[in-house]
Order: sequence, then C-alpha cells, then structure tokens
Amino acid sequence: MAKKKLVVLSGAGVSAESGFSTFRDNDGLWDRYDPQDVATPEGWQRNPKYVLDFYNGLREQLRDAKPNQAHRIIAELEKDYEVTVITQNVDNLHERAGSTRIIHLHGEATKVRPEVGVYEQSGSEREVFDIGYDKIEIGDKAPNGKQLRPHIVWFGEAVPKIEAAIDEVAKADIFVIVGTSLTVYPAAGLYRYVGPKVPIYIIDPQSVAIHDNRTTHIREVATEGMNSLRKILENG
Ligand code: OAD
Repeated sequence: MAKKKLVVLSGAGVSAESGFSTFRDNDGLWDRYDPQDVATPEGWQRNPKYVLDFYNGLREQLRDAKPNQAHRIIAELEKDYEVTVITQNVDNLHERAGSTRIIHLHGEATKVRPEVGVYEQSGSEREVFDIGYDKIEIGDKAPNGKQLRPHIVWFGEAVPKIEAAIDEVAKADIFVIVGTSLTVYPAAGLYRYVGPKVPIYIIDPQSVAIHDNRTTHIREVATEGMNSLRKILENG
C-alpha cells in the first residue's frame, strides 16, 4: 500500500533546541539585529561586509551545532510516511538528521550565488554554489566575476520555491506545523492549500495565528511535541 503523505512546515523553533535563537521570541535574533540591515537587498547595498559577517557567523554556529530529537523524529517518519519537509530555516539540520525531501523556502546558509546573475531572472539553481561552512569575504567572486552573496531569500525578494511547496501541501494527507510563528508570507499562508479533510497538527509552546477548526495544537517544545505527535500517529 502506498504510504500516506505527511508534509511538515518548519520554522526557527524546530532548531531552538540545537542552540539557534528564533527570530521573534524574547531576545530573538530580530532583537539583536535589525532585519533591514541583514535581511534585505537594501541592507546588502548599504553594507555588504556587515551582511557577510552575519551569515559567516551563522555558518560557524551551524558547523558546531547538531540536529535535535525533533529533526530526527521528522526524518524517522520516512519509514512509515512519504515525508516532505518545507522549511523556512536556512540551516541544514533537517538534512543532517536524515530527511531526504526538503524544500528550503528561504534559501540555505551553506550556499552562495553571485549578487547579480542568472538566478535573479530565472530562479535557476545553476549559479548556486555549495560552500559548506566557509567564510565569504568582500572580493570573493563567482565565475561570472560578480561578488558572492548568501543564498538567502531576503525580505522583498521573490520566493522561487513557493510553487513547489504549494504543490506538496495540496497533496498532503497529514500536515504538521512546527516552530513557526506564521508571520512571514507566503510561508504563513501555505496551510490554506491543505485539503478539506486533512488534519493539521501544530507544535509550538506558544499560540500560533491560525484559525482553522481542523487543527490540534500540541503546546510543547519541538522535541517533546514531535514525540507526542509520533505517538498520536501510531495510535491513529
Ligand atoms: P519566529 O521567530 O517568528 O517564530 C518561532 C516560533 O517558534 C514561535 O512561534 C515560538 O513560539 C516557537 N518556538 C520557540 N521555541 C520553540 C521550541 N523549542 N520548540 C518549538 N517551537 C518553539 O520564526 P519563524 O516563524 O521561523 O526569514 O520566522 C519566519 C522567518 O522570519 C524566518 O525564516 C526568517 C525570519 O525573518 C528570513 O530571514 C528570510
């Protein structure tokens, strides 16, 4: 029998127990950094070195971090389900935990691309390079001679993977939202594409802005919440 399709939408909260700050909780990243400076094309134009240093720091933290139990349970669900992870996170902890189908809606910290290139016009991945945990400095150029920039979707930029994400959500038999405040669109609107009879599970210690009577809110941190969800699915 074909496996049921389980789609996970994850956000910063799933990586919190791996040591990463979320963005909007108290003392979150956006308390310490102005998103206008590090997450917009205008911030990049004003001070590219500051932006590179921010993502260099993130890559360094990522090199030393480990996936947590929540990432691992999501990966283990592939034994029983056809799992797709749609993540807003730019870390690589889902893949390091073993998940095999991942859509990175907001880009990837371990990748770079030329600041002006084919990508802007076409969304092509041809000019995207994997740099692992290396630092990028001013003067580091792509083969087309342009300065390299982080492969991150900044505020005000298109989200090229959103169509692929919508297709996955529309085909889901079970939809799971974990560790996201659902404040950033278009990711925050993805749940609207879930089929009418499909259950939606939310794992978050705080309330989440979603009003849909199919939702079950598991008010726990990601590791405990994914464990609870696994039990619910086993008994369901
Ligand atoms: P937020 O910081 O907006 O939301 C994090 C969510 O995780 C909140 O709902 C918290 O209650 C929850 N949370 C905190 N600790 C948790 C834990 N241990 N387990 C489970 N949940 C926990 O982060 P996102 O929704 O991911 O975009 O933010 C979306 C986007 O905004 C990010 O991708 C980023 C940011 O600007 C870009 O940088 C382009």
